[in-house]
Amino acid sequence: MSLVGTKEMLKKAQKEKYAIGAFNANNMEIIQAIVEASEEEKSPVIIQASQGAIKYAGLDMIVAMVKVIAEKSRIPIALHLDHGTDYFQNILCLRAGFTSLMYDGSALPFDENVAMTKKVVEMAHVCGIPVEAEIGQVGKMDSSDEPGVAREKIKEFMAKPEDAEKFAQLTQVDILAPAVGTIHGCREPIAKLDITRIEKIRDLTGLPLVLHGASGASDEELRKGIAAGICKVNIDTRIRMAFTNKIRQYLNEHPEEIDPRKALNPAKAAAKEIIKGRIKILGSTGKA
Ligand code: G3H
Ligand code: ZN
Repeated sequence: MSLVGTKEMLKKAQKEKYAIGAFNANNMEIIQAIVEASEEEKSPVIIQASQGAIKYAGLDMIVAMVKVIAEKSRIPIALHLDHGTDYFQNILCLRAGFTSLMYDGSALPFDENVAMTKKVVEMAHVCGIPVEAEIGQVGKMDSSDEPGVAREKIKEFMAKPEDAEKFAQLTQVDILAPAVGTIHGCREPIAKLDITRIEKIRDLTGLPLVLHGASGASDEELRKGIAAGICKVNIDTRIRMAFTNKIRQYLNEHPEEIDPRKALNPAKAAAKEIIKGRIKILGSTGKA
């Protein structure tokens, strides 16, 4: 089927208290892994591309690959811009056929984040495309960070519920990503979600909430977060780890191999297993 938007998908998830996985696509094999896993789980899915992925693969190439795979599929698939920190990147993605956008002004002062998000929302809504925005700051873990250091970074930048309420009203954003206890790039499940904060933000805004940096959240934390109002769960690092570790293992075991497909096939299978496992935890199995 054709690509779908994220608004209806997330509203349904919000009502029925499950979450949709938003998996980062970095190449063709990962896109295939995301779709195959979601089809086997009969789950709707969000394929998201970051500005880095767009730079790597090319905007048109990403849209073409995702469109082709979606047309052949019977599950609802949305194509979402992840962490679009650039206003013009949002416009380019809209024009290229993305069905959902994110303006990430989390590094800006509150008023500037409001002003820029509002601009993107106004532009996207003319075309019927929903917009996600970030409030507070879901930072990034440095590879050298100890869990204690990461937890300190997390605490410092959590979203304030009253800011979230004001932000939602002023921007009319469709989907909200508040910093609530995770950090990007965690290779271990060290995150502790602030459930009370999630519930307050849910009650004050009524919006579908997104958990960024969800690779660092254990199954239990994810379940609690979803019960509190998280309906979109972003996962990248766990997929990268599974994919790249498999390539490394294959090439170590077969140092003479020159056919990249030999390493990429098991890597794709490993990514698919991770994605299937996450979908089961998110509760979106059978919701397509
Ligand atoms: O926007 C992307 C996600 O927040 C992914 O975070 O790499 O920690 O899973 P992660
Ligand atoms: Zn993120």
